[in-house]
Amino acid sequence: MAADKWVLSVTAQTPTNIAVIKYWGKRDEELILPINDSISVTLDPGHLCTTTSVAVSPAFTHDRIWLNGKEVSLSGGRFQNVLREIRSRATDYEDEKRGIKITKKEWEKLRVHIVSYNNFPTAAGLASSAAGLACLVFSLAKLMNVKEDHSQLSAIARQGSGSACRSLYGGFVKWIMGKEDNGSDSVAVQLADEKHWDDLVVIIAVVSSKQKETSSTSGMRDTVETSELIKHRAKEVVPKRIKEMEAAIAKRDFPSFARLACADSNQIISGVEKWNRHEGTPQVAYTFDAGPNAVLISKDRKTAALLLQRLLFQFPPQSDADLNSYVIGDKTILKDAG
Ligand code: DP6
Repeated sequence: MAADKWVLSVTAQTPTNIAVIKYWGKRDEELILPINDSISVTLDPGHLCTTTSVAVSPAFTHDRIWLNGKEVSLSGGRFQNVLREIRSRATDYEDEKRGIKITKKEWEKLRVHIVSYNNFPTAAGLASSAAGLACLVFSLAKLMNVKEDHSQLSAIARQGSGSACRSLYGGFVKWIMGKEDNGSDSVAVQLADEKHWDDLVVIIAVVSSKQKETSSTSGMRDTVETSELIKHRAKEVVPKRIKEMEAAIAKRDFPSFARLACADSNQIISGVEKWNRHEGTPQVAYTFDAGPNAVLISKDRKTAALLLQRLLFQFPPQSDADLNSYVIGDKTILKDAG
């Protein structure tokens, strides 16, 4: 085969994750090291996911990336960090049938083309960077024959976007903040897989698909620079909540799960609180990421149906835009569509 006539590609799909104990604040901006542990639920990729194809060919002259159909610059530090980390771990590859052989050294020189799609609003506070960067790392690692395990890949995804490290696992995931200055121990681990606590249903109320006004990155930078309370949160509040949340997940204890998730979210839905008070024990938990869209977690499918009924009545979907739409997700595992 002529040297420039081949293309090698991998396609992967990665779901987003929703934090129930949030990551908010960095101790190192470059390596993306957080000031506290966090815990999230990874969603089912059918609804909120990124699909990414990565390809190399001797014919490609530059690294390029297209996000949702539009070419964007790859010069940003975060993309470059991810590409560098993956390339440095590439191993020899051989496809005898197609006559393709790539040595570790040659991977460094081959340019990559990346095409990535989100099936949900980008940067509207639905953790699109989490799914996107996790998918990029996962697909590049497959393409370049990287042999590291998911935990080591999570440390690379973390350098693309903090919350992305948690999307490399399905089910319930903890991002351990770590102690090392080089970030080697700041990795994600799976607390329980997607089959654990199968009853939980996550409903995402998409009230706005507009780009959020403040990015998580600058929001948390402002908080760390200006808030005294954030130190208290990181040192006292979150460590206790993390322990309690781990126990609640292990025991499938919904009242504790709901209390902790709601307490850790920065906004209040009076409807959910009123309902939970009325029933005497929590039926639904709510949590928000950095945007206005609400994530509701119901304790079982029956409650989810009731909740949807209420939401559709109180906030009917609007036909002229994707306002007030609802996405239902189960917990899930990472899918390799390649
Ligand atoms: C509110 O991971 O998007 O969703 O690391 O700067 O890319 P960067 O921020 P990002 O922040 C997510 C913040 C959050 C909480 C969470 O997911 O834990």
